[in-house]
Formats: sequence, structure tokens, C-alpha cells
Amino acid sequence: MTGFEAITLNGPVGKSIVRRSGHEKVTGTATFTAEWPVNGLLHAVAVPSNVARGKVKSVDTSVAESMPGVRLVLTQKNLPKFTRVKTMNESKQSTNYPSHLFPAAEDEVFFAGQYMAAVVAESFEDARDAALAVKIDYEVGEHVTDIDVSPADERPDDLFGSPAVITKGDAEKQFEAAKVKIDSEYPTFGNHHNPIEAHATIAEWSEKEGKPFLTVYETSQGLAISQKTYAQLFDLSPNQVRVVCKFIGGAFGSKGGMWPQAVLACLCAKAVGAPVKIEVTRGQMYGGTGHRTPMRQRVQIGATPEGKITSIIHSGVASVAVKDVYDEAFTMPTRIMYQTESLRLDQKRCRLNSQIPTFMRAPAETPGMFAIESAIDELAYELKIDPIELRRLNEPEKDLLERKPFSGRLLLDCLKRGGETFGWQAGHQIPRQKKDGNWLLGHGVAAATYPAFFFPTQAKLTWNADGRVLISCCSQEMGTGTATVQSQLVADLLGIPFHRVSMDLGDTDLPPGGISGGSATTGSLGGALLESIKDLKLKLIELLPVNSPMRKADANRVAIRNGKLTMNGGTIDIEDLLTETHKRSVTGSGKFAPAKDGEYAAHSFGAQFVEVAVDEKLGLLRLRRMLGCFACGTILNARTGRSQFIGGMIMGVGHAMQEATHWDHRYGRITNDNLAEYHVPVNADIPDIEILWIDTPDFNASPIGAKGIGEIGITGVAAAIANAVFNATGRRVRGLPITPASLMATA
Ligand code: MOS
Repeated sequence: MTGFEAITLNGPVGKSIVRRSGHEKVTGTATFTAEWPVNGLLHAVAVPSNVARGKVKSVDTSVAESMPGVRLVLTQKNLPKFTRVKTMNESKQSTNYPSHLFPAAEDEVFFAGQYMAAVVAESFEDARDAALAVKIDYEVGEHVTDIDVSPADERPDDLFGSPAVITKGDAEKQFEAAKVKIDSEYPTFGNHHNPIEAHATIAEWSEKEGKPFLTVYETSQGLAISQKTYAQLFDLSPNQVRVVCKFIGGAFGSKGGMWPQAVLACLCAKAVGAPVKIEVTRGQMYGGTGHRTPMRQRVQIGATPEGKITSIIHSGVASVAVKDVYDEAFTMPTRIMYQTESLRLDQKRCRLNSQIPTFMRAPAETPGMFAIESAIDELAYELKIDPIELRRLNEPEKDLLERKPFSGRLLLDCLKRGGETFGWQAGHQIPRQKKDGNWLLGHGVAAATYPAFFFPTQAKLTWNADGRVLISCCSQEMGTGTATVQSQLVADLLGIPFHRVSMDLGDTDLPPGGISGGSATTGSLGGALLESIKDLKLKLIELLPVNSPMRKADANRVAIRNGKLTMNGGTIDIEDLLTETHKRSVTGSGKFAPAKDGEYAAHSFGAQFVEVAVDEKLGLLRLRRMLGCFACGTILNARTGRSQFIGGMIMGVGHAMQEATHWDHRYGRITNDNLAEYHVPVNADIPDIEILWIDTPDFNASPIGAKGIGEIGITGVAAAIANAVFNATGRRVRGLPITPASLMATA
């Protein structure tokens, strides 16, 4: 891959256009998964295990079965047949077909919350009441839920395609020899997913052309992948499965893989012979639908007194489940952040009796950047160098391992522009310099980064005789504004007004898109649409009379401009062409697939700035202001783009200051499995946030110059806050979330 041909975008792209689904959402006309009206719908509620390890001795369903409205109690005895498959959130090393996904499929319990049975009833309330009456007796086994107790004696063989141990030079030796050293540990709590919309599935079995047909309404970030997984689970071909999801009320990675309620709804529907809905309760999400693992990271950095880094060692442990494996690759961002002669990345894992961990907004970079960006701040302080200057001194030209040049880096530009706007005073940052009453004031900076991912995507573009243009792709609308920004892109490329373009998504009957994860949708779908436009142009040319100059010419000389076919100044109106040829519409299709081994290291970068106030007597931490400056290539829509960055930064505030899953390790159960006790930021926690970006397209990475912005906003935030806390108080907080206890002046 030598990059992509630059395209010129000077129409609706970049404009601050209101997100289309916003109106549907606030007026209540948007249909979310649990809201689909399905005739004869029954309701299922799962019966989760209340022990963290054990074996089922007996299941007594007699009381539950006799309760009002109950149609079926699903247990191992009447479980319909299915094939165990792996889903996309498990690593290659999850070989023994996991327990996390298959309800009632085995006697063994691997974590509290594992679905052991389910009740299907005429109403949700009936199902919930009866689920409580299913009595399961366990032979209780030994469990481990504490990362500090479970032995970290394994290494993943594969971290997103890379080994768990990566070495360059002799990092230990160089670290020992270094004149200036930082050696710090960064322990973080686990975090649980809490999108506003809980996970839900409606499954309906029917027949089509004499064969079984499964329709599933599901909260999913990847419908096309779900369709394949359902087909494998139930020995169907993918065209016997349709998955629909028009709107998602927050996902952040938690709806990337498949979860047990999805399988359970299909099993219940099959067993009971009627459509079945399962809405996961908030409490059941803590055992059911994924989390970011707790981590124990250590960063060692060796440097010269002038501030040149000579060695970086980033190591640590993240947990996986007992049988199921998802590895949080926290060492990943360290490969690309700072120039160093010697590097060692070393990740271990331990096993806990928990549900399998999963993607959570910028997995890898969110925890990894907390550690590395805190350590860099520690080093800057040690060296008495400005932390931005330290980053400038160690800016790499290529990524450290593959030696590829960056597709477009601009980290220093982000730090510079962000710093100027924030009012960063360069120099050695001495703590405890500013006060406001009882509040100690401090400021902090950290870098942000996220890879530019792309997934195979197909799309169609239909030009109707009435002038409306329709984009079709089975992508997902997660609240990010996919339909809006892709319509802007197409309107811009075709030279027609934005209001004439719309998008149909969220249905596997449409051309398959990728997972809406890894911040990959915008660039990947944009790439497929560029190809669709080329195909559409060919289809339109074919409608021209055989002797017309445009038909006879090389198609590359013909373009679509201002909504017309154009060549050498001559134009043909497309609607006229369709009318004259009696066509109601013409459709072009296209696909985009990322190159396997690109020539560039493709990542986005950014800079986070934070001002905090700390009351040491009360242990209070307040944010006074935040500023993020990002370089993610072309931003397709200023309004939705800004909203994505802000959303990421707010989630970073949760990561830094609030979110923590607490366990009672005696019982192996989560104690704060609700939104009253699992804290996420609210409006009152969030200060003014200023968003800037460097508006430079990156055609080395992306066919449309845009690199995706869903995840970078969260990265670096926790480090910027912790660094600001140090600047305010002189106290280095290395654990997340930052608690009042860690801020209170002792003695
Ligand atoms: Mo994101 S954690 O890739 O949905």
C-alpha cells in the first residue's frame, strides 16, 4: 500500500450538521432493540449462578413451572441443540469453547452470573418472579477473583497479532546503566460497561422456502458478524438468518462480541415455539456483558540527564476468565510513543473466576496510556524539563518495531496548539504553586493515541430518478452519527445538497459492513462508498446512447460533478438521463478492504490538557477545565466530531476518578452491580471542555483522509488528570480511580 489518492472535499464535509437520528431519539420515534413490536412475543429472564465456582448438584424447577404466566423453564434437560462456536471477542487461545456464552450448557460454574437456566413467561414480571423461584443447588468450589492473588504465570501468545513479549536491544541493561530512572507501578481497578441501553435480544424462528429462518433483533455493534455466528450456532447458512438493529443506546465495545442473552433468546424461542425477548437487567450486565479487567502495570524508563530516553520497559498483568480468553493489550501503545534504543514489552495474564473481559472504549490504549503518560510526566519532573519538551526530545520518526514511517503523526502539533490555547507555561512544572481558597490548583498534560483501523466493508449507492440518493450498508448507528456523516461524504463527492442523501443501515439484508468498533467505520465505509461512486458512474455511462462522446470516452475522463455527469465542460443531468431511459434508479456498489501489510504505521494522535482543584483536607478532586487537541485526519462533521471527542474525554474522567468494579473476594461476587454504586460521571462532574483538531487529511492511512475518532478521546485523560493532581499537590497518584483517600494530606 502506498497510501491513497487524495480527494478534494469542499462541500458538506466538515460542516456542523445536526445528527439525523437526534430528532428520532428525542421524539421517541427511534426503535431500539427491545422495542420492536413482534406478535405473540414472550419474555425470558435468565437465572444466573450465585456462586463463583462449583458444580450443579440439582435443579428444581417445579415451583417456577407452576407460577402464573410461565410457559417454559429452560434447563440442560430441555436445551435445544446448538453448536458451540467461538465469537470474535475471544482470543485464539480460547480453545475449549467458553462457558460465558452458552446458557445452561454445562454443569460447571466458572463465575458468578453465569446463566444456568431461564424462564420464559407471558410477561417480563412473570418471568422475573419465576426466575427467582428456580432452585439450583451447587457443590461450591474454590474461586479466585482477586488479581493480586491469582498467579500470573501465563503469557498470551498473541496480542492483536503481536507477541506478548517484544524486545529491542537490551532494555534491562540500558535501564540499569541509565543516569536518570523512573520505575513505577500503576494498579487499576476493573471497569464494567454501563451503556444507557442494556443489552437486549428478540429472537423469532420461522420458515422461509421450507427451511428454518431466524430473525434476531439485537443490540450489536457488528450485525454482519452476528449473522455468521448465529448461522454457525444453529447450523444454518447465513441467508437463513437476518439480524436487525436500527439504533444502539451506547455500546463502547460492550456490544462488539456476542453475549449469552443473544444465544439464550434463540434457544428459548426454539424451545417454546414463539418469539422471545430478553432484556438484560442492569445487575445482570455485571456478570453478563463484559468489562475492562483490573491491571497491574509497571513502567521503567531510563534517560540521560539531557532527557534522551535510552530504555523503556512496560510490563504487567491483566486478567482473563478461567476458560475464556480476551487479553487487554495495554503495552501496545508503548511501541509507537517515544524513541528509545532499547525496549521491552512484557504482558502476563492471570485467570479469574469472572465473565470474560472485553473491549471497552480504546482497549489497550486507555490503560496503557495512563501508565506510560504518567511515567513520562514523572520523568519530566525528575529531569526538571517541561513535559511537552520531553516529548519533543523523544519524538520517533518511525514506529519502534516495524520501522514503518507514520502515516501522519502530528503529535507535536497537537501538544503545541493545545498548549497555546490552554495557556500552558513551559518549563519545569513545580507543584503546589497555585491556590484558590482551600483548593490547590494544578495542571497536567498527556498525549493521546489510537490506531487507525479499517475493516472490510461493502456498500451500495442508489441514485433515484427523483434525485434522492440512498446509501445502503449493514453498518450500525451507535449514536456516533454514521448515517449523517456518510451522507455528508456522498453529497460532497457527488456535488449535491446534503438533504438529498440518506442512509439505510442496521439490517443484514443490506451489503455487509464491518463491526462498528476500533473507530474503523468512518474510513472503511467511506472507502466502500468511493468505490460505489465509481461503479455508479459506469452504470450511468452505460445508459448513454452508444454514440455519445461520454460513452465512447475513457470512463476516467468522465466525472460526477454538481450532480451531473461531466466531461470536458460538457454535462449530462443524471435525473434527465434516468427519466429518458425509463429508469427509476441506478445502483452502484463497491467494497473496501484494508491492505494486509501497509507501508505506514497508521495511528491518530492527540494532546490532553487538564486543570484540577484539590482539597487536601476533604480529599476532593474537581476538574476546572479540560482541553483536547486531536489529529485524526479529516473530520467529516464538526458537530458530531466534537461530540465524539467530548464523549471520549468524559469517559476518561470516569476512568480516572470514578469507575471501579468492587468485588467481595470471599464470595467472588461484585458488590456494586448497579448505577447507584458504580459511579460514572454526570454533568456536575464535567467542566468546560474545549476541543480542537488539526485539520489535515491523512491519505496515507485512509481512502477518505479520515482516521476515526470514536476512541482516541478517552486515551491520555487519566494520565493528564493524575499529572495535574501531582502538579496541584506534589502527590503522585498511580492507582485508578483516584480516591479521596489517595488525595488527603495525612500527617
Ligand atoms: Mo470499541 S471498544 O472498539 O467499540
